[in-house]
Amino acid sequence: VNGVIEIPVVVNVLYRTASENISDAQIQSQIDALNEDYNATNADFTLVPATFSGVKANVGIRFVLDQTVRKSTNKRSWNTNDYMKISSRGGIDPTSPATKLNLWVCTLSNDILGYAQFPGGASATDGVVILNTAFGRTGTAAAPFNKGRTATHEVGHWLNLRHIWGDATCGTDYVNDTPLHNTANYGCPAAGHKSTCTGTPVEMTMNYMDYTDDACMYMFSNGQKSRMLATFVSGGPRYSFAQ
Ligand code: ARG
Ligand code: ZN
Ligand code: CA
Repeated sequence: VNGVIEIPVVVNVLYRTASENISDAQIQSQIDALNEDYNATNADFTLVPATFSGVKANVGIRFVLDQTVRKSTNKRSWNTNDYMKISSRGGIDPTSPATKLNLWVCTLSNDILGYAQFPGGASATDGVVILNTAFGRTGTAAAPFNKGRTATHEVGHWLNLRHIWGDATCGTDYVNDTPLHNTANYGCPAAGHKSTCTGTPVEMTMNYMDYTDDACMYMFSNGQKSRMLATFVSGGPRYSFAQ
């Protein structure tokens, strides 16, 4: 891996209503948000508290819109069974999933904002799914999920990151420079919120891999950066994207 990694992005839009057929501007606003968040040029990066200034990261991955695929459907909503990724189920098959990041944008059931496939899964379903109203920063994107951070979070999973609380009480995310968290944080926690885990550390609630509102998450750590970039090395599960 030499220099900044560049990832072509295919955006697959499934729509029943006109508003679900999101605009090119909304799509571009999501690409812009990903580029800011993964290159530490997001305006709120300066809000990272001093406690974490030594570990805040510029990940160094660029996202380039490759193409947008749109398909009209009579389905009112989709769920996590991946049918949106399968044309015979009414969805859209991914385009070149070994070399392009596929995003599917649709209406999801059960208040799901998005979900991702971790590295190492089937190529036919590889990529990230995002709720249309949590996608991008304009158009139908709705507060408090209108800063494009659902995609930032899901692409983190796609690059092997776990939730910062490790999906367990004081669980592990396998990253050394992120503190232990009791559990997921929601909304916008007050500064200095401490966990009751070993050592009662201050939680990194502004990390993209927590569950806080878009306006209250604005950093990855250096350890998370290493874990993501490790997927691109020779023999790594995302090596095909590093060519
Ligand atoms: N709940 C989703 C997941 O576990 C995404 C959460 C995204 N949070 C946000 N503020 N956009 O993958
Ligand atoms: Zn998640
Ligand atoms: Ca950790």
